[in-house]
Amino acid sequence: MAKVLITGVLGQDGAYLAQHALEHGHEVIGGARGELTDERLWRLRHLGIADQIAFIPFDLGDSALIEQQIKQHRPDFIFNMAAQSSVGDSFSTPLATAEIGGMGALRIFEVARWADWAPHVFQASSSEIFGCITDAQHTEDSSFNPKTPYGATKLFAHIMAEAYRASYGTFVSTGILFNHESPLRGENFVTRKITKSLAQIKAGQQDTVYLGNLDARRDWSHARDFVEAMWRIVQLPQPDNFVIASGRLVSVRDFTSMAAARAGFDLVWEDHGVNEKGFDRKTGKLIVGVDPVFYRPYDPAQPKVNTGKAASVLGWTPQTTLEELVGEMVDFELQQIKH
Ligand code: GDD
Repeated sequence: MAKVLITGVLGQDGAYLAQHALEHGHEVIGGARGELTDERLWRLRHLGIADQIAFIPFDLGDSALIEQQIKQHRPDFIFNMAAQSSVGDSFSTPLATAEIGGMGALRIFEVARWADWAPHVFQASSSEIFGCITDAQHTEDSSFNPKTPYGATKLFAHIMAEAYRASYGTFVSTGILFNHESPLRGENFVTRKITKSLAQIKAGQQDTVYLGNLDARRDWSHARDFVEAMWRIVQLPQPDNFVIASGRLVSVRDFTSMAAARAGFDLVWEDHGVNEKGFDRKTGKLIVGVDPVFYRPYDPAQPKVNTGKAASVLGWTPQTTLEELVGEMVDFELQQIKH
């Protein structure tokens, strides 16, 4: 039985990671900042594991607390999942995003560097570190050119992970994670916003959902599949970087059509840009509109990736199709509706 410390245990990935570790008989220490309210515990409660986690106060802005907690608990594995994880929100909170996502990760690496039991650290890197590049296919060795505060922050932590490996021999692995979703996703991300809104429209509790860039294409997978990859990455004898993705790019518009179909709508799209609208073919009802307030100052196209390394070294490929993911998310939202 191993001791597993998960920072950001209250978030989507933290919750699925905790579930995965508990299912494999490990002890889970959950790092969380602030009060553990019912509202914040909802993901762990939904998975039925809140009572099996030993919660500890953990704040990525507090070096002394990080050092004290890691030294006291001596975890075998540390998954650093805490961050300000919204690219959109990073435009209005660049300093906080960098402080927690960048310096916070470095604070953990620094404690791991000196730890006499050599914990294995997993750092959640992001596809946003690729940024504005035009190669046909990307791998772990592609160059990075982020243009968002969030992407730049994640690249800092990613490069630091490599520096700690090379300079000190610290075990810090990264997963360059493409989008991963689930019913436990935060509502500020586009997939959950869409699935939740569609369920409410279906129930007559909302008129229309307004989105931003419908042409944006993303490589979406199920978060449950991703934690399996993260787990395999930290079990390796040597630290390394892995791109984790499905390899399939789908537009926000097409994701919306898929989700709408699951909710019982048949969307037809009319017009373009800010005037684009999605109507239900049967009733003519306006289901989707565009509001420029949801556009980002910078929204780089996501690259197509080659996930061959994850397949060959980790034996990992995603198990859930996008259709299954969309189905699970929409069904969850329909069940949540209170009539
Ligand atoms: N959030 C949001 N809300 N995004 C919208 C909307 C909207 O109303 N309308 C269109 N979009 C577009 C965004 O412009 C973006 O191109 C795409 O939908 C996905 O946005 P998000 O769901 O917010 O995710 P993200 O791709 O920016 O970032 C996520 O994935 C990264 C990995 O690829 C986050 O999980 C990051 O933490 C993660 O690193």
